[in-house]
Amino acid sequence: MRTTPTQDEWNARTVALLEDAYLAAPDSRGGSGFNGDAARWQRARRVIVSAIDRDGSFLDVGCANGLLLESVVEWTAKDGYRVQPHGLELSERLAQRARQRLPHWTSRINVGDVTRWQPPQRYDFVRCEMEVAPEHQRHDLVQRCLRDLVAPDGRLILCNYGSTTEPAAPLVPSLRQWGFEVAGSAEASENGTVITRVAWIDHRTAP
Ligand SMILES: C[S@@+](CC[C@H](N)C(=O)[O-])C[C@H]1O[C@@H](n2cnc3c(N)ncnc32)[C@H](O)[C@@H]1O
Repeated sequence: MRTTPTQDEWNARTVALLEDAYLAAPDSRGGSGFNGDAARWQRARRVIVSAIDRDGSFLDVGCANGLLLESVVEWTAKDGYRVQPHGLELSERLAQRARQRLPHWTSRINVGDVTRWQPPQRYDFVRCEMEVAPEHQRHDLVQRCLRDLVAPDGRLILCNYGSTTEPAAPLVPSLRQWGFEVAGSAEASENGTVITRVAWIDHRTAP
């Protein structure tokens, strides 16, 4: 009989699957679980900053080696915004790698599970993949991020990632079905396949 995993089981599986592979990766993108060159990284991830429309603090939930933090700062600067980056990472060893790579941001790289971490502050923008919680817990994950992590006038940026062989799963229909007001959405494609889906919810509209 199949049982639904608890968050602890899900987290243990995540660390077992990702940690050693990310740490052994030959480049910084691989250290964030991404396969491809810098141009492909930009094609797949830059779409996230479509949700950033002003200066503010940015929390990357599941920051791995911190590459997305660096990239978001760079891409938003090109759009004319100043973002203060913060990271949260489940794996202590990956967080350590992020701190080594980004010594000027050491105090902003936190270790914890997003479903129970106590944040030292609220953030104007919080980016989180649905994948960080088991499927039956994803509604609670979205509520938890809005309630405890996002600033009162802030924005939660949700992502689903895929590949050319496994397209990114739809995001907006389940968010609407759960009663959230989706303020915007965007996607990135490669060879006609959606590889990144992004949807955002403003805190002030949270049910
Ligand atoms: C695919 S990487 C994302 C790297 C980068 N932030 C990006 O968006 O490309 C997902 C990261 O999320 C972390 N993670 C998974 N579950 C988490 C949880 N419950 N709380 C915090 N981090 C988690 C994993 O350890 C992994 O480093």
